[in-house]
Amino acid sequence: MPNQPVPSLIEPFGVQFDLVEGAMRDSESRIARRASDMRGYYADDAALERLIAAEGDPVHYETFESPVPEQYGQVKFCISKLYPGLVGDECFMTKGHYHAVIQTGEVYLCLKGQGLMMMKTAEGRCSREPFAPGRLVYVPPYWAHRSVNTADEPLISLCLYPGDAGHNYGDIRTDGFPKRVFRRNGTIAVV
Ligand SMILES: [Fe+2]
Repeated sequence: MPNQPVPSLIEPFGVQFDLVEGAMRDSESRIARRASDMRGYYADDAALERLIAAEGDPVHYETFESPVPEQYGQVKFCISKLYPGLVGDECFMTKGHYHAVIQTGEVYLCLKGQGLMMMKTAEGRCSREPFAPGRLVYVPPYWAHRSVNTADEPLISLCLYPGDAGHNYGDIRTDGFPKRVFRRNGTIAVV
């Protein structure tokens, strides 16, 4: 097929996960998002500023990336570790993203914790799936996705996605997701 991208020939390899800590040993890179990176994403901006000031801008979530080229035909994988907490009464969450190549899906296998995968399409559709240990969430092509931690321990997932998927924050910074997740008096509310 003309102009079909061709993946590099790389050597097979294995990696060791730490399932208790929610980490990939010897990962290519660890990306940490701090509370200050989340400005503009929560409903209560002032509550986020109070959290940053009181707790010294804590790490909000971490991603341990695999040493796989970002190419068509490769299968990227990572560990996502989202810490527990509240901004006001809104549960800690990731920014969320579309894939730059929007025709690509992703699977999230929850290893630890409890939460929700919030999903939306650019056309305004909205969906969610629960995270629990051993539960796999399938994110089809076209769906933006955001993890939310509804418990008191880290939410840890193994993510697998096409190598060329990429990230696109699109309308999320400005429009967010149609639903937010709150914990009020110990009860989870999706509003
Ligand atoms: Fe993704």
